[in-house]
Amino acid sequence: MTTILVTGGAGYIGSHAAVELLESGYEIVVIDNLSNSSMESIKRIKEIAGKNFPFYECDLLDVECVENVFNTHKIDSVMHFAGLKAVGESVTIPLKYYQNNITGTINLCEVMIKHNIKKLVFSSSATVYGNPDKVPVEESFSLSATNPYGRTKLMIEYILQDLYFADSSWRIALLRYFNPIGAHESGKIGENPNGIPNNLMPYISQVAIGKMEKLFVFGNDYETHDGTGVRDFIHVVDLVKGHLKALEYLENHEGVEAFNLGTGKGYSVLDLVKTFEDVTSKRIPYKIVERRKGDIGVCYANPQKAEKKLGWRAEKDLNDMCKDTWNWQLNNPNGYRN
Ligand code: NAD
Ligand code: UD1
Repeated sequence: MTTILVTGGAGYIGSHAAVELLESGYEIVVIDNLSNSSMESIKRIKEIAGKNFPFYECDLLDVECVENVFNTHKIDSVMHFAGLKAVGESVTIPLKYYQNNITGTINLCEVMIKHNIKKLVFSSSATVYGNPDKVPVEESFSLSATNPYGRTKLMIEYILQDLYFADSSWRIALLRYFNPIGAHESGKIGENPNGIPNNLMPYISQVAIGKMEKLFVFGNDYETHDGTGVRDFIHVVDLVKGHLKALEYLENHEGVEAFNLGTGKGYSVLDLVKTFEDVTSKRIPYKIVERRKGDIGVCYANPQKAEKKLGWRAEKDLNDMCKDTWNWQLNNPNGYRN
């Protein structure tokens, strides 16, 4: 039986990965410090999958705690989701981001080396492409970052590459996510932002449920079909399926490889609003305001590398993403705090 350690497994993407792993027959061990999540999501993962697994409330900055997990369980590979992810906050408290994301990853890798575990799937982000010169974005494009959060992702990618240069038995997949949205179709797990959401989809769904009065659309003067920003929205369940494919790929491939996980299609802010309205029959009032500082106009993936090498392709469309987000929001108007 193969056992996967899932760091950050109580969070939005990690919880969906945990379900997918359990349903695919893997054993899992989850660690999370619950800084941006709750025990309730661990309970829900168990409910959906109908299986139990060990959970450790453990901070990656606490090496002893991480060691203890590796001493207790025979881990084969690691899916590493744990990290802080709010771009705006990272500008205000950069050191916290560098310490949490980078030191946390270094600690994890050190313990992995000690236990001779060399297979790692890492949550990177399309943010490592900075402001790309053209779209669709390919893995070979030049990398840069525009904020501390993005720099942590970029630095971790370099650190993991250096690890491989130093020891060629490492097998590492750098998965560059585009814009994950949606939720598990059960409506039991989903994205659960604290306070006012920073990202578009959670904001739209909170307008729909009546928690926010209206959506502020950040700019309608981009060079896009309706002037609003265009992104590659990907259903979180498709995204986590890509992780399982990456895990399988690592069984037969040494080295470090980056893969875009996106659909390859770009939709604008207003396209998403319109689809959400059509699918849910809810009206989303919005107001056009200034561009958000640091935003780029258009970003979508060329996902062909993942298709060719991993045999993975996103299958769900924008309707599915809106339907499942709304189902989660309706069933959990206060997220996990019901
Ligand atoms: P999330 O905040 O829901 O999940 C991250 C989890 O990690 C949380 O449960 C948090 O409590 C935990 N965590 C944070 N620091 C930790 C630490 N030091 N030790 C132990 N646990 C810790 O975020 P998410 O959306 O599920 O994102 C998962 C990963 O994917 C992150 O690394 C994020 O940067 C990356 N990512 C997310 C997106 C996105 O849009 N959600 C896009 C690109 C990349
Ligand atoms: C943001 C982060 C990115 C991170 C990603 C996923 C920034 C600059 N980038 O990407 O690093 O990897 O989230 O966590 O924060 N929008 C509105 N109104 C809103 C919210 C968003 O109009 O209230 C627009 C944005 O201007 C953008 C689009 O919606 O055009 C998507 O925004 P968002 O969901 O925040 O994702 P990104 O900006 O792509």
